[in-house]
Amino acid sequence: MSLAERSSREQRLANAAAGVERCRKCAIGSSRRNSVYGEGDSCAELMLVGEGPGETEDLLGRPFVGRAGELLDRMLLAIDLPREHVYICNTVKCRPTFDDGQRLRNRAPDPSELANCRPYLDEQIEIIRPSVLLALGAPAAKSFLGATFSITKQRGQWYEGPRGTPLIATFHPAYLLRMTGGELTAVKRLVWDDLKAVRAKLDDLKSGDAAPAPVEQIDLFSTDAAD
Ligand code: URA
Repeated sequence: MSLAERSSREQRLANAAAGVERCRKCAIGSSRRNSVYGEGDSCAELMLVGEGPGETEDLLGRPFVGRAGELLDRMLLAIDLPREHVYICNTVKCRPTFDDGQRLRNRAPDPSELANCRPYLDEQIEIIRPSVLLALGAPAAKSFLGATFSITKQRGQWYEGPRGTPLIATFHPAYLLRMTGGELTAVKRLVWDDLKAVRAKLDDLKSGDAAPAPVEQIDLFSTDAAD
């Protein structure tokens, strides 16, 4: 990628992020502390799309920087992708919350929030033009593939995403963090399969040939916070 192209993309992303910061189409545009536009390499081959910012992301204005984000970083490293080499964003750019009477708690984005934010996500995809899209969790996958998408039955398969981009979905890292024991091991294995599929697709698109499968790295994304 030429330096001129990179800098043009960075400028366009910065302008779009400023637009998101000014956006008040939804009530969560006013309850949030910071908008969380997205971050990473403007020329990334892989774009990851999560559900929406949580509390830490809202505080810092950056996607996937809480516990789920730390796990995501380890998952990416397991397929030789440092976080800085990918682009990470969410279906919605403001933290969806509800007030439980004591504090603001996270919730899934509602359909109107998804619809209001969709042009921002489409614009990001248009600017970055990733080779592969990875949807993290059911809400992100459904936002691309429709409400009937089943993450348990349809993850790990290739679909055509926006701009004809190959799209695959896997479980959200926060889901893994809620699991323990044998259930966790089983889900981690599925996620590892999905990550290997992403790695193979990226290698394939680059070289035209299937690359050798990555060595078994599943332990690299331990869900144990002490790791
Ligand atoms: N979960 C998400 O879906 N996105 C974030 O940015 C953080 C946690």
